[in-house]
Amino acid sequence: TIDEKVEKILHQLSLEEKVGQMTQVTLDVITKGESRFASDEPLKLDKKLLEEAIVKYKIGSVLNTANNRARTTDKWNEVISQIQKVAMKEIGVPVLYGVDAIHGTTYTAGATFFPQQIGMAATWNTELNRQGASVTAYETRASSIPWDFSPVLDMGRNPAWPRIWETYGEDVYLTSQMGIAAIDGYEGENNDLSDKTKVASCIKHFLGYGSERSGKDRTPSYLPEIELREHYLPSYKAAIDAGAHTIMINSGIINGTPVHASYKYLTKLLKEELGFKGLVVTDWADIENLHNRDKVADTHKEAVKKSINAGIDMSMVPYNFKFAEMLVELVNEGEVPMSRIDDAVRRVLKVKMELGLFETPYPSKGDYPKFGSKEHEQIAYNAASESITLLKNNENILPLKKGTKVFVAGPNANSMRTLNGGWTYSWQGEKVEEFAQDYNTILEAVQNKLGKENVAFASGVEYNHEGLYHEEKNIDIDAAVKASEGSDVILLCLGENTYTETPGNLHDLYISQNQRKLAEALAKTGKPVVLILNEGRPRLISQFEEDMAAVVHTYLPGNFGGDALADILVGEVNPSGKLPYSYPMYPNALGTYDHKPSEASEKMEGMYDYNSSLPFQYPFGFGLSYTTFDYSDIKISRNEITPYHDFTVSVTVKNTGDVEGKEVVQLYTKDLYASITPDNKRLRRFEKVNLKPGESKVVEFTLNGKDLAFVAENLKWTVEAGEFKIMIGDQSASLNVTKTVEFEKIYFEN
Ligand code: IFM
Repeated sequence: TIDEKVEKILHQLSLEEKVGQMTQVTLDVITKGESRFASDEPLKLDKKLLEEAIVKYKIGSVLNTANNRARTTDKWNEVISQIQKVAMKEIGVPVLYGVDAIHGTTYTAGATFFPQQIGMAATWNTELNRQGASVTAYETRASSIPWDFSPVLDMGRNPAWPRIWETYGEDVYLTSQMGIAAIDGYEGENNDLSDKTKVASCIKHFLGYGSERSGKDRTPSYLPEIELREHYLPSYKAAIDAGAHTIMINSGIINGTPVHASYKYLTKLLKEELGFKGLVVTDWADIENLHNRDKVADTHKEAVKKSINAGIDMSMVPYNFKFAEMLVELVNEGEVPMSRIDDAVRRVLKVKMELGLFETPYPSKGDYPKFGSKEHEQIAYNAASESITLLKNNENILPLKKGTKVFVAGPNANSMRTLNGGWTYSWQGEKVEEFAQDYNTILEAVQNKLGKENVAFASGVEYNHEGLYHEEKNIDIDAAVKASEGSDVILLCLGENTYTETPGNLHDLYISQNQRKLAEALAKTGKPVVLILNEGRPRLISQFEEDMAAVVHTYLPGNFGGDALADILVGEVNPSGKLPYSYPMYPNALGTYDHKPSEASEKMEGMYDYNSSLPFQYPFGFGLSYTTFDYSDIKISRNEITPYHDFTVSVTVKNTGDVEGKEVVQLYTKDLYASITPDNKRLRRFEKVNLKPGESKVVEFTLNGKDLAFVAENLKWTVEAGEFKIMIGDQSASLNVTKTVEFEKIYFEN
């Protein structure tokens, strides 16, 4: 068996070799000079440095790739073969190569790029998410890389957090379902990694990342365990149950303790309670950070001891060999037990073995004919078109009528970079304009659709790509107003430039002043303005939203986002995306749809209404269509629910308009009274259905009494007796299409 083989190899390894297996360095450590970042030169490994890393320090893992036009799958094949040859000769154990292919194979020339995770969540289509991950797995493996640091299963519950676009949004059920689909896509349904079109997934960043109190990346979180278990843990549990092979740790501090030093989270919770059997890797430099940044270790060596004893299996070092040297010393000094080292190395070896790297450490050329194919691109296009979300459409200004003359403006109108976001061809996305020239920006796609003669353009505001991501330049609002003169409709493309992680931190969630002024000036022309949002987080637009005739959210839709948007604008595609987060209206009313009742209390006729929702610009789950849907006939199969029996809820959904459309049918529950204040409501099921004009379908959901559970004061998932409402509708806020049914008592049996 694999376990026996792993045991055999483990016993042949020296202490230095075992510690090497726990060490991961970045590609820079073994490459020549700046060649990693050069655009046209093929990547050159430095033979001497490679030997130092593998022969002397016996490192077992490498991460990162590079922005390079010459970096085709074949070139990758050569580079990785060189590394593996040295590793197999010297240690007899292949290197595990990892990369951030979070919406496509980040650095390989010609790879297929999908909407970023937030857009994939907006499709509410788990099958599309599975297909997307499957394409990325294929193309990553075609690049000879078998390990992908994806998906992100952190919760996007703070709109200011600069990584919210890397999440599946604010809801833990939607995140869990999308996460399971991603793992299926990356690893295959049976998690059989010997399939050479699959990769080992890496769920990240365990645990509580994104809950930073300030909304700024890698700043402290204060997260009570009751909330952690209710909202932050289930997506990880679901992915672990779905067989995810590896996990990366949160760089942050929770309640004062850096997660990388937390025995409680890494060993007690992750390895023991959740039963995670896979490999635990740190984030970038996060062991050293326990000393340098977080100050819980007075030396780097103490940091190594703390983190390894806490349960880390592999250190993303990434630049030197100090970790390996110190860990060997710590074992010899009796500070880190050999049993801990063996546990870590077993986990590393097992992933390598399951990936079949021992049998085929050198990837074979030419086995991946579908790399960057039309078939793959079609899936990326489908995902983009199902993600785009229509948030407002006054007087059915959209779809545009034939012959409409449009004026396109805004800093996001003519940029491939902003369509893709970070982790595209490079970390901050700086290389996108250079590498994505074969794809269409919004402007180009609209020109292709409507004919160049019908499209005028002036940006009005531009991003300063040379400077920090949020700097703007060439502000000329008057010129934009003037250029709009001959048009019937204005397409105003606003949002953000690309960023990820700490460089994306922000002080002000409002959309930039320049962009707001541009919107106000264009609205004053009296022409209808269609606001197209292309942004990584929901920037506040409440100051001018009322003046916009329509609003379309594209998120970060990838290389086919421009084409998909143009097809929606002219009505060739009916929009079907739904918001995966609550779009805030005010800086002091940030929150999630599942808030506690008192958070939304509104004074109404002398009384407080505790059943309202927060004043969001647009609610969670919201998205319009060019057709209309009617919900009726909600039926529940039993009136008595127990935690031990399934029950079904069905509803009839009818397309009452005159075009075909897709609708996301959403089922929410509300616990009326409980031993702790229940959440306002919770999403429990959803299904996306396609309906022709006049067609109706009965959508049936199966639930169990356990779906109504919550984390009680004793920190255990609990189903309490009481009344519940089951609500089905097209979004989270109450609408007249939402039917409400009350249950009989739930029987609580212990
Ligand atoms: O995987 C990433 C992580 O999400 C953020 N820090 C760097 C890692 C490796 O590139």
